[in-house]
Amino acid sequence: MTTPTSTPTSSAEPLALSFRDVTVHLPRANDELQILHGVSFEVPAGQVVALAGESGSGKSTAMLGAMRLLPWGARIGGSIIAGDKDVAQMTKAELREFRSRKARVILQDPWSSLHPMHSIGSQLIESARSGDPKLSKADARVLAAETLARVGIPDAESRLKSYPHQMSGGQLQRVVIAMALVAKPSLLLCDEPTTALDVTTQAQILELLRELNREMGLTIIIATHDLDVIAGIADRLVVMYAGAVVEQGPVAEVMSNPQHPYTWALLQTAPEHNSGARLRTIEGRPPALDKLPAGCSFAPRCDFAADECRTHRPQLTALDPTGDRMTACLRVQDAHTVADPFDTDPILEASAQR
Ligand SMILES: Nc1ncnc2c1ncn2[C@@H]1O[C@H](COP(=O)(O)OP(=O)(O)OP(=O)(O)O)[C@@H](O)[C@H]1O
Ligand SMILES: [Mg+2]
Repeated sequence: MTTPTSTPTSSAEPLALSFRDVTVHLPRANDELQILHGVSFEVPAGQVVALAGESGSGKSTAMLGAMRLLPWGARIGGSIIAGDKDVAQMTKAELREFRSRKARVILQDPWSSLHPMHSIGSQLIESARSGDPKLSKADARVLAAETLARVGIPDAESRLKSYPHQMSGGQLQRVVIAMALVAKPSLLLCDEPTTALDVTTQAQILELLRELNREMGLTIIIATHDLDVIAGIADRLVVMYAGAVVEQGPVAEVMSNPQHPYTWALLQTAPEHNSGARLRTIEGRPPALDKLPAGCSFAPRCDFAADECRTHRPQLTALDPTGDRMTACLRVQDAHTVADPFDTDPILEASAQR
């Protein structure tokens, strides 16, 4: 009987990830659809970065692009630098090594990562040995039990014999996290890892990810709709809109002092952040990706849009000399126009005028 002992530690150094002007085109029947329109953001090694934005903004495409797991025929442009390698340029052999030993993905639905007919233990052992082919089956089993205990599965040793259908959704997502961890990756990409779970379990899983980040120095990216849950978990926040990044920076700074009107609007849709006022929705819909407006993609929904916003596409620009905070808004350059909008409540004002 194996007693879960210590925390399974990551063997590798945490990995930094850098998206540089990344484009993704997906094939259609007669042409291609551009999904990502020059996505740039930084994921410093050992940090937790949240990727937020409405449905369809391109979060999953960015995550899957970083693993080169996009549908057949997809074209990636720009570069996705992981450590010192460009994922966009990796050979098949390099990709295999990257996916088995360096980076792992956790998807929204735990079932998509598990085989229903194989025991939890055999799947964990297989994953551990894909991360380290020299690991004996016995050692992989010990690691599997330790890791299962670490992610909060009680009686881990005997649960190795369980099958996925014998576990709850929350437990399954913990198993999927354990499957990633046993391979000792340096980078964990989590695509809405808690959306399918109840609120209490969501918070527990996110807290677990944060603990693993601290203990193992793992770099973690979490794509989410839900800004509230991310506030206490992430170090940095990247906000996407219509296939591009509109703002990024340290989470507390972006949330307390958003510089892009879309970030501001998105925060107003988050119950906790919205300090008791009635919950708002952002008026209108994001543009179709094959019919993006000539200027800023958010301009048609933006209360602060000026004429130039409808004709000029804003570039992601540093707000400080370090480049730690960046935003893509033409009006942010004008201190006078920026100071006012964020002190007022344009949505309530607009509805009062109606
Ligand atoms: N395989 C595909 N074929 C065609 N279009 C696709 C495909 N995958 C994604 N898209 C389109 O790309 C855009 C971005 O999708 P993506 O799934 O990356 O967004 P998301 O931000 O993850 O959204 P959600 O929050 O709903 O998960 C959407 O308009 C979507 O319809
Ligand atoms: Mg998605």
